[in-house]
Amino acid sequence: MKEEKPFIVGNLADSFRFTNRVKELEWLKKRYLNGVNVTLISPRRYGKSSLVRYTADKILSENKDYIFCFIDLFNVKTEQDFYTQYLEAFVNAIKGKWESRVKEIAGYFKYLIPSFSYQASDNTKLAVKLDWETSKKSADEILDVPEKYAQAKGKKIIYCLDEFQNVGFFDDPVAFQKKLRAHWQLHKQVSYCMYGSKRHMMVEFFNSSSMPFYRFGEIMFLDKIHESDWVPFIVRQFENSKKSITENEAQLIAQYAENHPFYVQQLALNVWFNTARKCSVEIVESSLNDLLMQNSILYQRDMDQITSLQANLLKAICFGEERLTTGEVIKKYKLRSSANVVTTRKALENKELVDGMNGTYEILDPLFKRWLKEVYFK
Ligand SMILES: Nc1ncnc2c1ncn2[C@@H]1O[C@H](COP(=O)(O)OP(=O)(O)OP(=O)(O)O)[C@@H](O)[C@H]1O
Ligand SMILES: [Mg+2]
Repeated sequence: MKEEKPFIVGNLADSFRFTNRVKELEWLKKRYLNGVNVTLISPRRYGKSSLVRYTADKILSENKDYIFCFIDLFNVKTEQDFYTQYLEAFVNAIKGKWESRVKEIAGYFKYLIPSFSYQASDNTKLAVKLDWETSKKSADEILDVPEKYAQAKGKKIIYCLDEFQNVGFFDDPVAFQKKLRAHWQLHKQVSYCMYGSKRHMMVEFFNSSSMPFYRFGEIMFLDKIHESDWVPFIVRQFENSKKSITENEAQLIAQYAENHPFYVQQLALNVWFNTARKCSVEIVESSLNDLLMQNSILYQRDMDQITSLQANLLKAICFGEERLTTGEVIKKYKLRSSANVVTTRKALENKELVDGMNGTYEILDPLFKRWLKEVYFK
């Protein structure tokens, strides 16, 4: 057993802190291995990035013919940035001496060749430099480089594009998506896994018939991890680090964190820190309270930044109201009108405070919800 903490917060859940997702892993793996494009959607911190990495690691350990290219579009604001990242992910994913990799790639361009260099700060990663002219003139060639390479080498490539919804903020997002699709749909050796947490944007891209990526691949809505998976995981992680926790206490952790992957790990980690050898219900509860205290400044700040109408709607959701646009709820929580409810709800979704599907909404952070109930709205 590694001398490492058994729970993880703020990083991807790696193999020894990864639980369940057996069905999701199989689902993804099957599609990857058969060249089917996929879209993965879930609220923030449910574990999309972890699942994608974990699945890639699994495939790479079993099969040498696959190459995974990872791009995080979090900071990618323009098409030019996109092409740079697209190529950079590729040139760093393939094997070989850098000179031969660069030479190989240059061969796929007819006249304007992007430049490659090592950054002074990091001589393990090749950086791509694309000026505006090259990125415009060579865009089509750039998008086809991986496919050409894969065909030439008999490889399969899987491109994993995190925070994909960000392409929606480019200058002409629909034209850009059209261009991507026009190329990607002809690729036989390269497939694409696109994931992101802005559900309404992702659904709009992939499920509305007027959009270029309509039905481009299969969509998976990633769910929380079930309590029945958390309990044995938490018990095992304690045991492996020479501490103990009962099933009952582990269940309490999962329940307090409402099975939300990030918050379960966060609470479990704090409980683990506070346990010398043997956990207890008191330790679980005091750890929860500590976390609430720690976070309360942030929660207060969130509340300072929203309108009173948004606060009213938050209250309604917090207290479990489901039919938010009915006259009764509107009156009780002073929500003005059903049209107001809809725009206010969207604002709360954009702030990533609430999320919902099929008409039911919930507060994303279970501790925030507890704080609202026990402190703010008390
Ligand atoms: N399969 C898993 N097993 C255990 N913990 C997990 C799992 N997946 C996610 N987590 C926990 O949730 C946290 C968030 O995971 P991750 O960053 O993969 O989510 P995400 O959906 O990509 O989030 P974001 O939308 O913010 O990018 C991880 O740090 C980890 O604590
Ligand atoms: Mg992520």
